[in-house]
Amino acid sequence: MCGITGYIGYDEAAPLLIRALKKLEYRGYDSAGVAVIDNERIFVRKMKGQIKLLDESLLSFPLGGKAGIGHTRWATHGEPSDINSHPHTDSEGRIAIVHNGIVENYIKLKQWLQGRGVVFRSDTDTEVIVHIINYFYRGNGGGLLDALIETLKLLNGSYALAIVSADYPDRIIAARKGSPLIAGVGKTGSFIASDIPALLEHTRDVIFLEDGEIAVLYRDHIELRGSEGEALKRETTHIEWDIESAEKGGYPHFMLKEIFEQPKAMSDALGPRLKKDSASNTIIDFDEVKLDERWTQARRILFVACGTAYHAGIIGKYALEHFARIPVEVDIASEYRYRRPVFDKNDIVIVISQSGETADTLAAMRLAKQNGSRVFAITNVPGSTLSREADTVVYTYAGPEIAVASTKAFTTQVVCIYLLALELGRLRGQISAQDYQRYVAALSAIPKQARQILDKKESIQRLASRQFNKTKMFFMGRQFDYPVSMESALKLKEISYTHSEAFAAGELKHGPIALVDSDTLVVTFATQKALFEKMISNIREVTSRGAASLVITWEGVDFFDTVSDEIFTLPETEDSFSPLLAVIPAQLFAYYCAVQHGNTPDKPRNLAKSVTVE
Ligand code: AGP
Repeated sequence: MCGITGYIGYDEAAPLLIRALKKLEYRGYDSAGVAVIDNERIFVRKMKGQIKLLDESLLSFPLGGKAGIGHTRWATHGEPSDINSHPHTDSEGRIAIVHNGIVENYIKLKQWLQGRGVVFRSDTDTEVIVHIINYFYRGNGGGLLDALIETLKLLNGSYALAIVSADYPDRIIAARKGSPLIAGVGKTGSFIASDIPALLEHTRDVIFLEDGEIAVLYRDHIELRGSEGEALKRETTHIEWDIESAEKGGYPHFMLKEIFEQPKAMSDALGPRLKKDSASNTIIDFDEVKLDERWTQARRILFVACGTAYHAGIIGKYALEHFARIPVEVDIASEYRYRRPVFDKNDIVIVISQSGETADTLAAMRLAKQNGSRVFAITNVPGSTLSREADTVVYTYAGPEIAVASTKAFTTQVVCIYLLALELGRLRGQISAQDYQRYVAALSAIPKQARQILDKKESIQRLASRQFNKTKMFFMGRQFDYPVSMESALKLKEISYTHSEAFAAGELKHGPIALVDSDTLVVTFATQKALFEKMISNIREVTSRGAASLVITWEGVDFFDTVSDEIFTLPETEDSFSPLLAVIPAQLFAYYCAVQHGNTPDKPRNLAKSVTVE
């Protein structure tokens, strides 16, 4: 979704704003703009299209000034166009704002303003905000902060806002409700942005604004205020991520880099949670969770998430039922929050979100908490809203994930879920000491095995070059292979724009097989040994209808050669851990298909990295 940034300091603002916007590009956008204050006047440059167009324009015709705000827009109200791009200004051009979020009552507010003679230039919901600020600023005789406070009281919906005024060239004011906003002071000035990567080159000590809070940025300090303007204090949070982790590092795209970072990311997720006991056995030490009686006696666990994180939740259901023998349900956050779920105060709700900012996931978490459930969060972003509001947080330690299509965040979420499932299984007496040792050893070996798969990337690349033109690509599997199929289909559709679906292989004959013809590729995950024979039958059913077939199975399993044209093998692990390995060739396949199609895998059309609106 939209990205916002702001800078006030000792250097020229425009180049710094452009650099920050480039770091926010991954969030998805269709236009970009900046507003800079110079000599107590505001100058705006904004346009439809990529940031590099804006950058080129600013290089040819620079805007001077040491304070400014910037924005990447992901259109919600009004088509992508120069005029609808942010920043928006009041009628006199004395106040400029950028906004991430949606003003739900903007029509009513617009009519109210039009009744007072305000002429609108854009179709956006955002423009109402700047006119209302101006209305209160001119009418009430107070300062800009007072005008903003009055304005925010009228807005329904969500916002992260940054505001500059020609009358206050020494400050930027920012406010948050429902959309992320992070501020920090660096060597050359103060910064504000929607996400951490935009600030990393200036500071790693940041303030995460909470809903209802306002930040006033000066060159060398930031004041934090409450919704009535009262002064607040907040410790900064130190971000461990380094700058390199948010750069491409020689890879053509972030997505490929992030796929290749998975062995390290999974190691980082496992490392702090494994230790040696007195007999030198490796055991799980999940001390951040405190698996007390509420966990061991839980009657039900519920996973709630969106998209890829939801697929991690389905693997969580299979894993917790398999290892810990606890009933588990999985819900899509946007469904959970709007239907009437049955709450039980003994439930444990596990909310999964890479960003920790997904609007529906946050709303689901709040609903569960209000109804007495204990909420456990799995997230990648320290300081995110989810991490601050959940009862317990487990970090995935994947480092920044920039590509819109989630890869390393998914595998590290699944690693954390397996650790939880195994430890809970042990505490509930569902896993013998011997099996526990075997499972922990197998899990510890996964990062190395992931590396072996990545070493075979060329074979997936060749496969993609042969198959990318198929108009339909289906993924099927049973048990742990089913959620992997779902995740693989999502990855492919997100970045290659190919029609892809996932089927539980047993459902094939209940409908989906009607879609199969010679323009179809069916990717079969076959890692559940007890179900090999059933999978062979399913593969025959699709190939006999003309589909091309790729089977992903274990090394040393040779009988799929007789039924499938293409085979990709994985180093063998426990069947129940197969998702951690099987998803990797599917991620690579999606990536290479996207490249073959000439798409931009990091920034797929219509998608945003962090879905902060409902
Ligand atoms: C994954 O490739 C997607 N871009 C998307 O489904 C994502 O997983 C979903 O929006 C949830 O995001 P979150 O993990 O940040 O909550």
